[in-house]
Amino acid sequence: MSTVHVRLIHVVKRFGTTPAVDDVSLDVLEGSFTTLLGPSGCGKTTTLRLIAGFYEPDQGEIWIGGKKMNDVPPHRRPTAMVFQEYALFPHMTVFENVAYGLRMRRLPRREIEERVGSILEFVGLPGLEGKFPHQLSGGQQQRVALARALVVEPEVLLLDEPLSNLDAKLRIRVRTEIREIQRRLKKTTIYVTHDQEEALSISDVIAVMDRGRIVQVGTPTEIYHRPANRFVADFVGLANFATGRVVEASDGRVSVDIGVSRLSLIEEDARLRPGDQVVVSVRPEAIHLSLHPPAQENTLKGVITSASFLGSVTRYWVRVGEMEWIVDVPGGAPEGATGERYLFLPPENIRVVEKV
Ligand SMILES: Nc1ncnc2c1ncn2[C@@H]1O[C@H](COP(=O)(O)OP(=O)(O)OP(=O)(O)O)[C@@H](O)[C@H]1O
Ligand SMILES: [Mg+2]
Repeated sequence: MSTVHVRLIHVVKRFGTTPAVDDVSLDVLEGSFTTLLGPSGCGKTTTLRLIAGFYEPDQGEIWIGGKKMNDVPPHRRPTAMVFQEYALFPHMTVFENVAYGLRMRRLPRREIEERVGSILEFVGLPGLEGKFPHQLSGGQQQRVALARALVVEPEVLLLDEPLSNLDAKLRIRVRTEIREIQRRLKKTTIYVTHDQEEALSISDVIAVMDRGRIVQVGTPTEIYHRPANRFVADFVGLANFATGRVVEASDGRVSVDIGVSRLSLIEEDARLRPGDQVVVSVRPEAIHLSLHPPAQENTLKGVITSASFLGSVTRYWVRVGEMEWIVDVPGGAPEGATGERYLFLPPENIRVVEKV
């Protein structure tokens, strides 16, 4: 049932000599909520602007709904974009802001009034037509920006860090609202953020970007649990990394010598060979911490160097040989937990994230 709605094929965009977007290919499925996630400067906004038509690619093709969009100007593309800043017109009322795109399309006044009224109701802002942006809260302004994009009934909604000006609590509320609205409309949405938690919580699909390239595309759980490389494991969530040497690899069972111990793990990558130098990663919450040695393989013995109560978990730093491991244990901290502990690393939770 899922058809490709937006397709980028080997898209390159350079500013000067450095590529801001470097050979990006991506399929966005119809009706999906797809997020471009990556650190500042990795090319997210440039990618979105290329899709909207504000930039032309130096190389590659952009397709929307089976039509090639290269050389099609922004106002002829079936897209609407909410910009990184609110980008509401400060001297215009809410009504005029939302009506702007419809006026540009020279729709009759009656139709404009109807559509603006119903979209404001839809985003939960009825009755605010006469207000100016400075008379609204940040969350309300954001919803006006969303209404202004939705009112022209775009096929594809492009949202560039729409929550970056809101405080932490409001961000969570508005992102949930945006997701709710997107679900109701089943509108293909491409969302940009550098906030990994935001991306994990609202996306159907995440495309992780690093220095102009897409390095992994997957569902939030795939991105979190099966990071394609060290960058993804590091950027999305917290991870422990250990360097080691493969001592055995057969039938998906791999054994890696990390110096202080040997770790068994399950890794389908058939390219791993004994002797390979690798980096493995383990999430803090995947590690079991115990006072007594568990009668299992994959156990490390260490000493707690510090602990920090974070509310839902307690985070421990445990020194094992030269390395400090981060371990998250659900629940409150036993006061002053110190001393020796055993770390058990379940084989299924250890990933090879790099071959060095
Ligand atoms: N108009 C421009 N002229 C020159 N360089 C640009 C221009 N726009 C972007 N760049 C450069 O291209 C790279 C990607 O920028 P882009 O704005 O796409 O990043 P971003 O991922 O959106 O970052 P942020 O999270 O900070 O918004 C950066 O190195 C940036 O300096
Ligand atoms: Mg940006």
